[in-house]
Order: sequence, then structure tokens, then C-alpha cells
Amino acid sequence: MTTRKILVTSALPYANGDIHLGHLMETIQTDIWVRLQKMQGHDCVYVCADDAHGTAIMLSAEKRGITAEQLIAEVQANHERDFAGFHIGFDNYYSTHSDENRELSEAIFKKLDANGHIARRNISQLFDPEKKLFLADRYITGSCPKCQAPGQYGDNCEACGSTYSPAELIDPRSVISGATPIEKESEHLFFRLPEFRDMLREWTRSGTLQEQVANKLAEWLDDDLQEWDISRDAPYFGFEIPGAPGKYFYVWLDAPIGYMASFANYCQRSGKDFDAYWRVDSDAEVYHFIGKDIINFHTLFWPAMLSSAGYRTPTAVYTHGFLTVDGTKMSKSRGTFVNASTYLEHLDPEYLRYYLAAKLSASIDDLDLNLEDFAQRVNSDLVGKVVNIASRCAGFISKGFASKLASTPDNIALLTEMQAARAEIAAFYEQREYGKAVRLIMALADKANQYINDKEPWVIAKQDKQSAELQAICSTGINAFRLLMIYLKPVLPAMAEKAEQFLSVAPLMWQDLEQLLSDHTINKFTPLMTRVEMDKVKAMINQTQQAYESKQQSAATEASAPAEDQTGFEPTIEFADFAKVDLRLARIISAEHVDGADKLLRLSLDLGKDKQGADIVRTVLSGIKSAYEPQQLIGKLTVVVANLAPRKMKFGTSEGMILAAGPGGKDIWLLEPHEGAEPGLRVT
Ligand code: 2FM
Ligand code: ZN
Repeated sequence: MTTRKILVTSALPYANGDIHLGHLMETIQTDIWVRLQKMQGHDCVYVCADDAHGTAIMLSAEKRGITAEQLIAEVQANHERDFAGFHIGFDNYYSTHSDENRELSEAIFKKLDANGHIARRNISQLFDPEKKLFLADRYITGSCPKCQAPGQYGDNCEACGSTYSPAELIDPRSVISGATPIEKESEHLFFRLPEFRDMLREWTRSGTLQEQVANKLAEWLDDDLQEWDISRDAPYFGFEIPGAPGKYFYVWLDAPIGYMASFANYCQRSGKDFDAYWRVDSDAEVYHFIGKDIINFHTLFWPAMLSSAGYRTPTAVYTHGFLTVDGTKMSKSRGTFVNASTYLEHLDPEYLRYYLAAKLSASIDDLDLNLEDFAQRVNSDLVGKVVNIASRCAGFISKGFASKLASTPDNIALLTEMQAARAEIAAFYEQREYGKAVRLIMALADKANQYINDKEPWVIAKQDKQSAELQAICSTGINAFRLLMIYLKPVLPAMAEKAEQFLSVAPLMWQDLEQLLSDHTINKFTPLMTRVEMDKVKAMINQTQQAYESKQQSAATEASAPAEDQTGFEPTIEFADFAKVDLRLARIISAEHVDGADKLLRLSLDLGKDKQGADIVRTVLSGIKSAYEPQQLIGKLTVVVANLAPRKMKFGTSEGMILAAGPGGKDIWLLEPHEGAEPGLRVT
């Protein structure tokens, strides 16, 4: 077999959120594929990185009062820990915020520009005048211009489904500052995608894509292809564009280049030749595993950019569907939006690896993680079938035969049949038809179990612990188990390692399927996997749900009691809120003590005349007793909140509130009778 030179990537997770089950479905799918290649002796390199740029990351860092660099370093450490917890065997995990990526992004951009594939023109966008930031659609809310539904984001309405430009929103607001955005022009740089229509038509039909994806692409390519806006104005966390001060590469420009940059970094460490993988006539294979939401970036912009910049295009882009849990979209409130780290607190990572493998295929359909089925499937297949074979045979070998296997197993035919499936199983893995591979492996496990059931070694052992027949039967069982573990090793690397220890063999490779163990001494059997307990699955869901609920609660508390700022003022209100307050000048026409009240006086206020010419008189209870005797107040003028809803107080109802300046105590100042104008005057 010739050795293939392969580079594989998974999509780069954003550096501002936790790794969750959705990410894991993709990295597990990729990791299984990579492990198969490595087991077959191919030269396969698997790289990934954090996708560290963009407005969202800049704003999250700002909100936490740390630098973007601090944020992405912290998040990357968590991501690496989580992936390692699920045995994802990256050869390199890097960041798009790296020197390699800056150099490659600049160099690629310069080539695109030199080739005439970059256009420059002014565009008008909504701009937050307070935050001094251009606003992407998701940072603008307002009411839908078609159906008036409030709280709609950006450019489409969730209530009526209509699409519009963010500038058409009624009463648009910046989500970041609450300010009303203004329209502002600035120059943007565009990648001339339409020039690549023919190149892409050919590329998408050259075996690079799944049929469903190629069909989607054909539709897009027949449609009007738009030039792609690759620039963003400062402030932006990313790389400044050479020759365009204050303009930054849009995060999606340097993200896929991040695949190359992570590989370049790996080449420096390993001595591999970067160009041998990326030059146009490279004999290496390059594969990107992605989700169906990011097809356009990987199958339009990316191959077009690579071809303009003089690099090879990917061998294939492998797209998967979304993960659902118990039949619906993962949900924080239902507790099914489970983070990698939460899962690991409760469950073995290989349960998930196995369950996903058992259900994965090469299609872009969504995959459902049904929690009951998950527990049942893992228990019946791995614990009930695979581990059971070893556990039923190991004891007899160690007790009766000093842990030594027979020179010839009892049922060569069974083992030969199991070995003969290797090409078919490898092909299923290679085609990402893991479900089919797993079904075939489990059918072989069933046969091995059936054989042991038929032979009843426990019955033989009762008569003679050292019978040659018993040794030959159990040696068949142990060999069957070994073959199954080789087949499952891409899916279950940790369990395979324990099996290697038990079998006392070197790390299992695909070619080891060609031999059997004979006259070989094994080690003591220890349980290789325990059953999934539904209680633990439930505890994981509860924990996720509770974390969400307490976050909601603290967000609500924070909103109702925002931290005091430097001024010590109450939280700011919008002008619109202030404008609701109707302030009027009022003359105090009577004032009296209130029985039992230490601080209050009861005032009658003249607020002028209503539209029919009748006097407006209000009774207000006011806490100014410390500064005035009642008779001193008569005739003085004050400002009143005239539209305050009447409030029932302990000493009666107050129909408004008077405003006066002063620190309190004896010093509360009102206007003298000659200092104001007519009562009822609106005060502004
Ligand atoms: O959709 C996402 O999560 C992106 N961060 C994926 C980037 S993949 C690649 F192009 F970098
Ligand atoms: Zn609407």
C-alpha cells in the first residue's frame, strides 16, 4: 500500500464560547477519520485552531474588562482541555491570531490585489455614534418596517419573515449602546468572486463535494454571485489590511487561512514541508470537515481565494448536518445545550464517541442524540457485546493456563470471517459511513458471542479447568475481541489502549488484523468500560439547565441594579423616558401639618387652569417640614411632576411631587412669589 500524505482540518471554533456537543460531533467525526488513516500507516496531519478575530470577541473582552489577547488565550486553554478530554488527537491546535496567520493573510491578500481580484468602493452602513462603531446587522434592533413587531434584529423579521435593510427598521437602536444609529459611508474592499464562476463550476463538480452540497452550489453559481466584502473598519480585533490603514480583514477572510497557518506552525515544529502540501501540483490530500452552515465560505470564497493566490484547492470539503438532542435543536432552557466540560463531569467521553459513530453517515442530514437510546445503545453494544466477549474468556485463560493463549484457536473459520471484513470496514470509515462500519462490527461481535454461548466454556471449566478444548475456545474468544478492538480503535482510542494493556500487545494498527495471537501471554482482565447510568445522564442535563437558570437570574438582577458608576447617579434613562415627565410650575396655596408625620407637610398646589378654564388644584404630601413652617410656604412657587400617578401613602394620597433643590434639612429652596411666572407653565 502506498503511503498517502494527508492534511485534515475541523472548523475553527470561535474564541468566545465554550465547546459544546455540536462542536464535538464535528471533531469526533474528523478524529475518527484521522485515526483510521494513521492506523493504516498513512502520513496524516490533523490541525485546528481557535477563530480569534471579530467584533463579538472584541466586545466580550471589553465587557469583561480584559484585553482581547487575554480573552482568547483563556478560551483557547479551555478549548484545548475540552477537546483533549474527548481524545481529539490534534497534531496542532493554534490560533488565527498568530504571526503565521498574519503573514499568510497579508501575502494572500496582496496576491489577490495584484491579480485585480480586489475592488474598492464606498458603502453606507449604520454606525453607532456613541460607541463609534459600524454596526453589523445583529447589533441593531428595532421594529419591523412591515409588521411593526418590536425587537427585531438586523435585516429580517422573525415575526413575519420579511427582509429589509437595517436602515429601514423603525426606531433602530444599537444593541451595544442603545444609541440611534446614523448612516455613514466608508470605503470597503471586496473580493471579486464573480470572476471565479467558471473555476468554481468545475471545482464543485470534480468529486470535491457531496452531491447534496454540489447541487446547492450549482444553484448559487447560477444565481447572481456577489462580490464579497472582506474589510471592516476600526475598531476591530483582527489584522490591519496592508495599504489600508484603519481597515481590518473581516474575520472570515483570515479564518480559513488559519488552517494553513496552524499547519505552517506544525511544519516548523515537525520539519514537514509546507509547500509540498499547498503548491498547485502538490500530491498531498487536503480535507476540511465542516458543518452545513458554513458551506459558502469553504466552497466558494476559499477555493477561489486559493486559486487566485496560486495555491492548490482542497481535495474535498466534507459537510455534516446539525446535532439535535431528543429530536429538537439543542436548548439552553431544556438543558440539552451541553458543554463539553459538563458532559465530562458525568460521563465517559467514549460513550459519546461511540454513539455518534454508530449514527454518523456521509450525508448532511441532522443527527439526533436521543438520550435514552444513547444509554441503551452503548450498554448493549459495548458493554453487553464487545467487553462481554473478553470478560467471559479471560478468567479461564488466567486460571487454567497461566494467562497463556492456545497455539491454535478452536474456531479459525470465525476469526477468518472477522478478518475478511477489514476492507469493507475500512472503506466505510474512509467514506465517513461510520454507522455502516459500526453495524458490521457489531454483527461480527454477535457472531463471536453466539459462538461462546454455543460452546459454553463455563460448563467445560466445571469438569476440567485445564482442558485443551477450553483453552482453544477461550483463545478464539480473546482473538475475536482483539479483532473487534482493532476495528473500533478509531472510535474508542482509550478503550483500545486498555485492551492493548490487557492483551499485552503493542499499539494496534490496521495491519495487525492480518495476524492472530497464539501462544501469547495476556495480562489480568480489568473492566474496560462500565455501563451508562441514566441517572448520570439526567444529572448532566439538570446541571446544564440550572447553570442556564442561574445565569438568567443574575442577568436579571444585574439589569435591575446596575453597578454604580463614577457619578453615583441612578442608572441612565433614555431621553424618551425623561420626556414623559410633565413638569409644571405651581403656586403653594395652602400648607398644613400632617398628624403623626415627622417630615411631611400637606400642600395644596395651584397648577393653573384646565382646558375648560377650571382651576387645577392638587394635594401633595411633601417631605419639606424640616425647612419650613407651613405659613412660610404660602405663595411660594415650586416645580411639580404633574403627571405622576397618585400614590397612596400612610397619611393619605399624594397627587404629584414637588421638586426643590438643596442638600435637605434646613436648606431646601423654593422660588419666592416674584421669582416665577404663572402657575401651570410647562417647565423645560
Ligand atoms: O462557524 C464558526 O464557528 C467559525 N468559527 C468556523 C471557522 S472555520 C474556518 F474557516 F476557519
Ligand atoms: Zn415583521
